[in-house]
Amino acid sequence: MRKNIQDFQGMKEAGIKISMLTAYDASMSSLLSECGTDMLLVGDSLGMVVLGYDSTVPVTMEQMVHHASAVRRGAADIFVVGDMPFGSYQTGSRDAINNGLKFIKESDCDAVKLEGGQEVCEVVSALVRSGISVMGHLGLTPQTASQLGGYKVQGKELPAAEKMVADARALQDAGVFAIVLECVPEELATLISKDLKIPTIGIGAGAGCDGQVLVINDMLGMFEKFTPKFVKQYAKLAPLMKQGVQEYLAEVKSGTFPAAEQGFSCATDYSSIFREEE
Ligand code: KIV
Repeated sequence: MRKNIQDFQGMKEAGIKISMLTAYDASMSSLLSECGTDMLLVGDSLGMVVLGYDSTVPVTMEQMVHHASAVRRGAADIFVVGDMPFGSYQTGSRDAINNGLKFIKESDCDAVKLEGGQEVCEVVSALVRSGISVMGHLGLTPQTASQLGGYKVQGKELPAAEKMVADARALQDAGVFAIVLECVPEELATLISKDLKIPTIGIGAGAGCDGQVLVINDMLGMFEKFTPKFVKQYAKLAPLMKQGVQEYLAEVKSGTFPAAEQGFSCATDYSSIFREEE
């Protein structure tokens, strides 16, 4: 059954960890839903993982809605969060509401996620007032990674940690139902999780968060070039996928694929079609 925001709040209060994974298409969302994942994120990591961009910055609303709709078609019974792409909410509450409504109406997402702290609280409140549930995202915020000096752990020094705590409290006051903490020292993420009433979902933020999220392609080992330190690979699919593809290629070349069992056969005599006309 599709969980809701109250369920996630109840899980935090009962000390039950929340499991979240990213998904970008229907076949994956169906599989993750069957496994019992609590919620899915159609992350703007889509840009890097699926669309081949160097960062999440170029991703558009149209691309997000396209993939989020596929995720929903694959899994009706799971809570889905759609990631608001860069440029879809920074221009003010009116644009944010229009784009948030587009997400919810066209892809049937349950909530949207956006990056930032106190600077986005006005937009968060406006979205929540419009009936759109919002998840926050603090720490390493990939859309503005260049302002953070790259893809680095955030909140190591006291002033940055104080700001993150203030941002988390402000987001909670603005009405977010949960906050992703990305690349945050475990000690700080644990303290923030205890301080907040709402759940935190960690990625590279240690075991003290109320839930965890990973990019599905990373945790299944579908990508071999680079694995972030915070990723645990629960499978190594890339070598298996390559092995399967190489076997197929060899069998196509040798003519052993397709075999009789993969074909269709019938008793019709077709030879009259090819008989030379007299
Ligand atoms: O875009 C994404 O996949 C994310 C997660 C890494 C939290 O924002």
